[in-house]
Amino acid sequence: MIAQQIKAAIRDIPDFPKPGIIFKDITPILKNPELCENIIDAFVEQLQGTRIDAVAGIESRGFLFGLTLATKLGVPFVPVRKAGKLPFTIKQKAYKLEYGTATIELHTDAFEPGQHILLHDDLLATGGTVTAASELIKEMGGVVAGFSFVVGLGFLNGKERITPICDKLVVLADY
Ligand code: PRP
Ligand code: MG
Repeated sequence: MIAQQIKAAIRDIPDFPKPGIIFKDITPILKNPELCENIIDAFVEQLQGTRIDAVAGIESRGFLFGLTLATKLGVPFVPVRKAGKLPFTIKQKAYKLEYGTATIELHTDAFEPGQHILLHDDLLATGGTVTAASELIKEMGGVVAGFSFVVGLGFLNGKERITPICDKLVVLADY
């Protein structure tokens, strides 16, 4: 039901950002407040029974539903940001991309050791980004509570990569 609603709203953009890639444009979802509410409700329902002390959303599209989800769950939201954006003291993690490397950062006071952190992003592709974020959370003494995504690209095998880290995985619309 929610998967169909999401898929009906998503716009496929061929050859963006480079030739051969079909980009899943979620901006039409954001223009539909009823669908946005349904998405948050679906996350909350599928996360029932999971201990979540904070939601970590990944820059930038992981901020869109991440804060709303945290607020609905009644827990803090913490931003996982790209390098050089966070102003306070930080911990960082570099990870490999298809070409080159990227670095993500968290504030050192993002959460307390032992807290259970839900990692949220708009889309699961290879899983490289959330794997790096999971490693950073664990290095900072946190526990990965699970993962939540609006969209999953199943053919890129992200699920196989991240479920060994934590098997609580919510993907609302899988391709
Ligand atoms: C996209 C997407 C996820 C990530 C998924 O973000 O929003 O964050 O890639 O890829 P992965 O599973 O292979 O790691 P992007 O880097 O395009 O940046 P944006 O969210 O700032 O647009
Ligand atoms: Mg992103």
